[in-house]
This record gives sequence, C-alpha cells and structure tokens, in this order.
Amino acid sequence: MTKPNAVLLTGGAGYIGSHTAISLVQAGYFPVLLDNFCNSDRRVLGRLKQLLGDQAFAVQEADACDQSQIVQLLTSFDVTAVIHFAALKAVGESVVQPLRYFENNNQALLSVLKAISSIAKDRYIHLVYSSSATVYGDPDQVPITESAALRPTNPYAWTKVIGEQIILAQQQANPSCRAVILRYFNPVGAHESGMIGEQPQGVPNNLMPYVQQVAVRKREYLSVFGQDWPTPDGTGVRDYLHVMDLAEGHVKAVDYLLAGERSEIINLGTGTGRSVLELIRAFSQASGQDIPYRFTPRRPGDIAVCYADSSKAVSVLGWRAQRGLEAMCTDAWRWQSGNPDGYV
Ligand code: NAD
Ligand code: UD1
Repeated sequence: MTKPNAVLLTGGAGYIGSHTAISLVQAGYFPVLLDNFCNSDRRVLGRLKQLLGDQAFAVQEADACDQSQIVQLLTSFDVTAVIHFAALKAVGESVVQPLRYFENNNQALLSVLKAISSIAKDRYIHLVYSSSATVYGDPDQVPITESAALRPTNPYAWTKVIGEQIILAQQQANPSCRAVILRYFNPVGAHESGMIGEQPQGVPNNLMPYVQQVAVRKREYLSVFGQDWPTPDGTGVRDYLHVMDLAEGHVKAVDYLLAGERSEIINLGTGTGRSVLELIRAFSQASGQDIPYRFTPRRPGDIAVCYADSSKAVSVLGWRAQRGLEAMCTDAWRWQSGNPDGYV
C-alpha cells in the first residue's frame, strides 16, 4: 500500500478537505482521507472518484481520536505529511455543548501528534493544522496580522487556540516536529466542476451557504444581521476566500514543510474585506437570481470587520488568492443549482 507522496487528511471528506484532496492530486500527491462522517456525506467520495479516478486517493472510515488507526495509516501508506482538518466547527453548538467540542477537537489533535511522534524515531511526518481567524476575536485593527492578540470568544474558538498551543508546546519539546498552522478567514464557493461543494446540515449558520439556499428557494429570504455596524454600508465586513484558493494554500504548506522549512503560523485570506450587501449583490449578479433580504438585529458575538493581512502567506509560502468574489459566487451557484439538496 506504500504510496509516494502520501498525505493523510483527517476530516478529508468535509468541505475543505474534499477540495484540498483535488488540489493535492493535481500537485502529484496521494491523499489518504480519514473521516468518521459526523459532518459529511459519504457520497462526496463517489464524486471525487468521478473527478479524480478510483486510484488517485484512499479512504478510511475512522475517528481521528483513535491513535492506533492513525498510526496504521501513517505506516501502511508511508505518509509524509498530515493535514489535520477533523473538527466540529459550529460556533453556536459549541456554546451549548462545550465538552463535546473540546473533547473532539483537542483529543483528535492529541491523537494525531502522538501518532506522529510514535513513529518519529524512523522519520518525521509534518503537520498542517486548520486554525481559524476566529482565534483573533474582535481585532484591535485590520488588516489582521499573525502577531495580533488572540481573543477567543466561544468554545469553538478556544479549541483552536488550545490546538495551536498544543502544537507550539510539542515543537518546543521536539524541534524536529515541524508544523504550519493556517488561520483561514471565510472560505466560500465550490470546485469549478460543480460536483463538490459545501453541504451544511440543517439551517446554515454562515452567510454564503444561506444565500445559496435563498437563491434556490429553499429559504424565503436572508436575514442580514445588523445595518448599523461601523462599516461603509452598515453591514458586517469579512474576508471571503475561494475554497480552491484555500485548497491550494494547503498544497503550498505541504510543499514548504517537505522542503525542510521551519514552522510558521500563517493567515490564509485575500486581504480584502467585503460587506454582506456586496456579497448579496455579487451573488445575485453571478446567479441571475433575486436574493430577498431583511435587516434583523445583530447576531450575538458578531464583529464589524475582519480581514487578513495576507502578506506572510505571499512571502513564506508563495501563495496568494487567485480567484475574486465573482468566481466565488459563480462556482457556489454552479454547485448549489446543480445540487439543490447537496449530495442527495
Ligand atoms: P467540515 O465539517 O465540512 O469538515 C470536517 C470533517 O471532519 C467532517 O467531514 C467531519 O465528519 C470530520 N470529523 C470531525 N470530527 C472528526 C473525528 N473525530 N474523526 C474523524 N472525522 C471527524 O468542516 P470544514 O469547513 O471542511 O473545516 C475543516 C477545518 O477547517 C476544521 O478544523 C474547521 O474548524 C476549520 N475551519 C473551517 C472554516 C470554515 O469556515 N469552513 C474556517 C476556519 C477554520
Ligand atoms: C463565522 C464563525 C467563525 C468562523 C468564520 C469563518 C459564527 C458565529 N462564526 O464567522 O467562528 O471562523 O465563520 O468561517 O458562526 N450574516 C448575515 N446573515 C446570515 C449569516 C451571516 O447577515 O444569515 C453576516 C454576519 O453577521 C457577518 C457575515 O454575514 O457579518 C459573515 O457571517 P458568517 O458567514 O457567519 O462568518 P463569520 O461571522 O466571519
């Protein structure tokens, strides 16, 4: 089963993992997808096979908290790097079920690190970790650099801050342990084929999936959370990033670690903030659909503005987002209109 350039993707069947699998194959890697499907649909695997062929990747149904399963995959495929996506990610749910979030998100990371270090006597396996701009909380200034203060405001965000701390402590104890921590801003959109995309369970929490469901008339209208934010049009501003740009950022991070470079923490964003109304307009134009919306009160815990200083990604990884808001909306629409009920 040994494969040249095998990369283990925990949470590989999820939204970002499945898109990253495509970019890895295109770059000559062999992705090994581990997932317990707690927040993904097995049918994504059939779509990936259609896009990539049967032999381009492997899949293992398992829990990322199960260290022995990870060790087994690392050894049998001769994995050179792990991208650790597996986590629960719904902010509101994390407030109601904090123990489930800390247990799943932090235990899975511990299992990955312990699995890696258990075979580190022979060779070292590098780690790319999915962190989030949520670690910055409400920033003092924008664009946000990697040295900004960390101010998590909910249990989900804390799982990411703690995850980062676990990795940094392990690096200090064992300098040959190298990792790139990627802090993503707001991933949106879908693969250009329209065959894979984001499939939220239940009512979407995030803006773009909600807009997509309004566009296919699964939802009547969008609630715009607040019209009195201190922003040019009064609505919240975020750094939306095409998921395929994000996927390619992971390939760059793996290339970087395999080239022997040192550990880093890096923002992945476009560096440009867009308002809710701008996004609605862009999506409406790309899809040709009307997006009815109503202003409602602010969502608790929301912030006005969040966008990345993305210069470190350019200088360290040689990565820069290539796709603009129009492509994000066009590709999201292709996926949503072709698959109104997701993978069903
Ligand atoms: P997702 O829910 O689509 O994918 C996560 C995958 O991990 C799912 O397939 C889920 O079934 C799996 N999973 C969860 N716990 C597991 C476990 N214990 N064992 C095995 N599989 C498990 O989410 P995503 O949007 O693809 O996010 C991937 C990563 O990026 C997560 O760590 C998330 O916190 C982080 N992130 C996401 C966003 C975003 O907006 N999507 C932003 C910043 C950071
Ligand atoms: C969310 C997560 C955050 C995560 C980030 C990146 C929450 C509370 N926070 O934040 O942890 O790091 O995504 O993926 O889920 N909006 C509406 N109506 C909606 C939905 C959103 O007006 O139905 C607005 C929000 O107020 C915000 C913008 O759209 O101004 C983007 O919201 P969302 O997509 O949820 O992203 P974040 O707020 O950045």
